[in-house]
Amino acid sequence: MNTVSADPQLAEPYLLGWLASLGLDVNYVRAEGNTLYYLGESGEEISVVDFAGGYGSLILGHNHPEIGEYAQQLILSQTPVHAQFSRHPYANDVAVALNRILQRELGTDENYSAIFANTGAEAVEAAVKHAELDRGLRLAELRERLAENLAAARAAVAGGAAVAAEAYRLLGVEARGGAEGFEALAAEIERRNAEQTGRPPVLLTLEGGFHGKLVGSVQLTHNEGYRVPFAALATPARFIPADSPLALKAVLESERASVFDLVVEGGTVSVAERNSPVFCAFVLEPIQGEGGIHVLSTEFAQEIQRVCAEVDCPVIVDEVQSGMGRSGDFLASSSMGLRGDYYVLAKSLGGGIAKTSVMLARQSRYRSEFELVHSSTFAKDAFSCSISRKVLEILEADDGAAYRTVRERGEKLLGMLEAVRADFPEVVKDVRGRGLMLGLELHDQSGSGSETIREAAPLLGYTVAGYLMREYRIRTFPTASAVNTLRFEPSLYLTDAEIEQLDRGLRGACLLFRTHDGAGLTGTAAEV
Ligand code: F0G
Repeated sequence: MNTVSADPQLAEPYLLGWLASLGLDVNYVRAEGNTLYYLGESGEEISVVDFAGGYGSLILGHNHPEIGEYAQQLILSQTPVHAQFSRHPYANDVAVALNRILQRELGTDENYSAIFANTGAEAVEAAVKHAELDRGLRLAELRERLAENLAAARAAVAGGAAVAAEAYRLLGVEARGGAEGFEALAAEIERRNAEQTGRPPVLLTLEGGFHGKLVGSVQLTHNEGYRVPFAALATPARFIPADSPLALKAVLESERASVFDLVVEGGTVSVAERNSPVFCAFVLEPIQGEGGIHVLSTEFAQEIQRVCAEVDCPVIVDEVQSGMGRSGDFLASSSMGLRGDYYVLAKSLGGGIAKTSVMLARQSRYRSEFELVHSSTFAKDAFSCSISRKVLEILEADDGAAYRTVRERGEKLLGMLEAVRADFPEVVKDVRGRGLMLGLELHDQSGSGSETIREAAPLLGYTVAGYLMREYRIRTFPTASAVNTLRFEPSLYLTDAEIEQLDRGLRGACLLFRTHDGAGLTGTAAEV
């Protein structure tokens, strides 16, 4: 099945060995639509149905003919792929096309400015960086206003204005009156304000979420294995359990920052408490992918939106995986009534060929200074942008036929998964997701009657993936941070025959669990 090379294995050999132990170390040589091919013993092509879909980056399938042809045309016409620091009309075309879609789905006419990047994690970090730049500028504006108001209050006191007794009480300063009393009060206010405005940024996110594995984004990724070894490198996030408004409220209350401002009114100086921008951003996935395919509830999404508005915390909606039509809408979050301050897109935006991502920041938050302090050599290149433009054209064609297809195919696939669950309730715990972003969760098997299955239980989804590959030529993976959940993210060209093939495979696996047939599942010798 795989040609053996005499060269040493130097590209992640450990991972390869692990994949080999599960029968997942396949060497694919060709791909189209939902099919991957490897070579058999006599060099013949053997097809595999791909439900992993490049971790959700192939809503248009492998090597979409129109995109492939267009890519060739770009190369043949000697498109200047890298012309940094020049006009980028192709990037603007993508930004305009994305705005048209966002405005339609969100029902707004506000524009979003686009900052391009290369990967999902990079675009997430660009959004977080922008939010932090904005927070810093808002802090500077606040400090300036506080200083102006302090000066005005000092002048008023010099001119005979009284200081309200309540002000001294609030700050715990002895009410001595006159300029001397006022200066003691002002010193205490300045001390407390410096403490509050100097607090590190607070990043909020949800338990079970995945936002990347770079130094910053991995701190927003819940899985401890990925995150904890690198915790010292970046700001840690506060993780909030999904669907827990009480926990959300408690975290916001405990992290909230405020400053004291001085107000002169009717010849009296008093003190007012104001919010200080300590919240950098709330980052969330509308449908958690890597964490097990969990759809955020509309109620909780709206609760997050509401409380974030109260404390002026921008919401970053990570649609890296759920976006570009995968849910049946361009944005999975739009039907939840979410209105992000930022959107992050990647994966399918590159049409399965380009590596590209984008961060969109709403105009009312946008700081153009960001363009001078953030960049990437490869971002915004002509090849990726042109491909993205083509992807958007295909998705939007025929009044959004692609979204309708995703919904219809998704329903059909979901119906099949539900039927498997109904027939094997002791094996399948749950089936969930939206559109073509679906998950099937298996019950824990650590108490199975088969020793082999019990041993496989900690990495159950991978064992089932190995079985589906070996016996049914089906490629799927578990969601890495929730290994009992198999993910199904095929392209919108999914056929009934492909669904039936998966149906047979899943039923085959379920039967083996039911009969405690560990040897059948793992392809090893029968237990004695
Ligand atoms: N955000 C989300 C929602 C993702 O699903 C991913 C990647 C990223 C960010 C990071 O993107 O890999 O291009 O840097 N998800 C993959 C998965 C790893 O398994 O679903 P990246």
